Amino acid sequence: MSIDKLDLSSPDLANQNFEKLAALFPNCVTEGAEGKAIDFDLLKQELSHAVVEGNKERYRLEWPGKREAIVTANLPTTKTLRPVREDSVDFDNTENLYIEGDNLEVLKLLQESYLGKIKMIYIDPPYNTGKDFVYKDNFSKDAQEELIESGQKDEYNQRLVANPETAGRYHSDWLSMMYPRLKLARNLLKGDGAIFVSCDESEHPRLRQMLDDIFGQGNLVGDLVWAAGKKNDSRLVSISHEYIVCYAKNVDVLKEKKIIWRQRKKGLEEIYAQYNRLQKHYKDDYETMTSQLKDWFKNLSDGHPSKAHKHYSHIDKRGIYFPDNISWPGGGGPKYEVLHPKTNKPVKVPSRGWMTSDPKKLQKWIDDDRVHFGSDENKVPCIKSYLSDRENETPYSVFYQDGRAASKRLRTLMEGDYFDFPKDEMVIEEIVEMLTDADDIILDFFAGSSTSAHSILALNGREKKNRKFIQVQLPEKIDEKSGAYKAGYKNICEIGKERIRRAAKKIKEETNADIDYGFRVYRLDSSNMQDVYYKPQDYDQGNLDLFADNVKSDRTADDLLAQVMLDWGLPLSLKIEQVDVSGRKVFKVAENSLYACFDSGIDEDFAKAITQDEPLRIVFKDSGFKNDTAKVNVKQLLKQLSPETEMKVI
Ligand SMILES: C[S@@+](CC[C@H](N)C(=O)[O-])C[C@H]1O[C@@H](n2cnc3c(N)ncnc32)[C@H](O)[C@@H]1O
Repeated sequence: MSIDKLDLSSPDLANQNFEKLAALFPNCVTEGAEGKAIDFDLLKQELSHAVVEGNKERYRLEWPGKREAIVTANLPTTKTLRPVREDSVDFDNTENLYIEGDNLEVLKLLQESYLGKIKMIYIDPPYNTGKDFVYKDNFSKDAQEELIESGQKDEYNQRLVANPETAGRYHSDWLSMMYPRLKLARNLLKGDGAIFVSCDESEHPRLRQMLDDIFGQGNLVGDLVWAAGKKNDSRLVSISHEYIVCYAKNVDVLKEKKIIWRQRKKGLEEIYAQYNRLQKHYKDDYETMTSQLKDWFKNLSDGHPSKAHKHYSHIDKRGIYFPDNISWPGGGGPKYEVLHPKTNKPVKVPSRGWMTSDPKKLQKWIDDDRVHFGSDENKVPCIKSYLSDRENETPYSVFYQDGRAASKRLRTLMEGDYFDFPKDEMVIEEIVEMLTDADDIILDFFAGSSTSAHSILALNGREKKNRKFIQVQLPEKIDEKSGAYKAGYKNICEIGKERIRRAAKKIKEETNADIDYGFRVYRLDSSNMQDVYYKPQDYDQGNLDLFADNVKSDRTADDLLAQVMLDWGLPLSLKIEQVDVSGRKVFKVAENSLYACFDSGIDEDFAKAITQDEPLRIVFKDSGFKNDTAKVNVKQLLKQLSPETEMKVI
């Protein structure tokens, strides 16, 4: 038996007053730096017949923290990306990237190398449902961070916080997290590129406003509505859809280049294959072909991509069609007599009238066998809509794909239930197909279980093309009680990488396509360079070397190469070869785009050997030269023997 406890504190009158005002004037509730607050300017306005002077009204998106979010986006990062060869697949040759770390820092690091190079961005950020986690950016170097750096605390756990609806800064926190990331992401898009952002009703209005703010209202391409099936969490209305909001980098460029987005519907190939089989068998017996096609549709499993086209269940001499509405759009259309071709009696006229006001035109369609009649005059005829005419069409803003099928497929692929609510890779594949072609780069910086990488590989396999992906994902820890943890996955990146490996294997088996199935893994880390300066009394023989070249002792030549590529604005996906030149290890990046040698003892002989290839760029460790004279001579030799080569040291 539970006994109610006496609340021995007096009522919080301020809170009660706040709630009373909020109930009377909900439009005056706003978010202040400390949490929920009343907008007194607006409240004054509510109580006055004249316009109340106060803060100037402006049409804009504002929240406490917006200015900070802008500063956050513009602050440089000191971090770097370190290659993780052991987790990669075909590291030296692949052009796909998987980057582990906070996407804010990663987006900053990619600014030079990928500026204006990304064709498409797809993201599925936390929806801010109150149950998911939002990442809090905090750049103040405080005690917490020192604990993190000394390994006593985990940075990601510190910064991923639940954001329940009861929190005063509910929307502000989400906006502050998204704003700098979207701003940085926009810089990376090509002139004819576009971004697609998944969201649900929780933040859809604010997402639209924020994207209007960052991309410009005129660059809205569309709000795609994904009808994904009923959720069982309805209160008053069962929400059965979510959104994919799309903005172009610049709609004018799309218009200038006359770019048209086209989409081939999924599941059509199987329907055509079935049609070909039926035609072979039944020749021109269209009635039997139609009934066989209907049976075939009926027997397809739920979630089969062809099932969405089951209305295309009629066949005639032209091909597959569905009987479409033949009525006048809206009411009050023309009504005239049309005879049934078999019974010769007037057919039932559509209640809204015929689609065309010209009876001769309709007769011509009938003569051309483009009108589908019922068995007798009692049924309203239809117009035949052929599959082949609609195969490549402008994408619709509303589409249906059951949300559950994707989870099922992922479960089968991973042999376990390891990731909640993955997006449907088939839907993402359609979107990728709509906008991108061979060699385009597609970025997803909230990668989760790597759905977008899976969809890109599947599309490449189908079309034998090489689109490239960049996945960015926080190594968010997995709950130790979960099945994923028990199966050995310690963080989400481990699930994401394993999914790509498995999806690649499956696609290779299914398509036998000769495409890039690999991916290069990079991990966000602190800079390779020492930031701790030793006092003279701290020098000992062990750290003298370290001090000399200022590179952290645990960093490898591979690490330095990644940092150099980012600093020099070279894409991380460029082909890397390792060769031996005069007994030293040299990295050759994209043939002769960049040569890097971080070994010691660099001298004139080495310089002569390396200039034979006339690299465009060359980099050494500052402390890597044999001596000061060698350093001067190497520079001089390069100038003489390979004048195009730009030399730098780190
Ligand atoms: C909704 S899920 C994406 C699911 C994904 N579309 C899929 O189909 O698997 C969002 C993901 O973003 C990740 N995330 C959240 N904040 C992040 C950040 N600051 N940097 C990188 N990833 C982040 C979360 O760990 C989560 O896995």
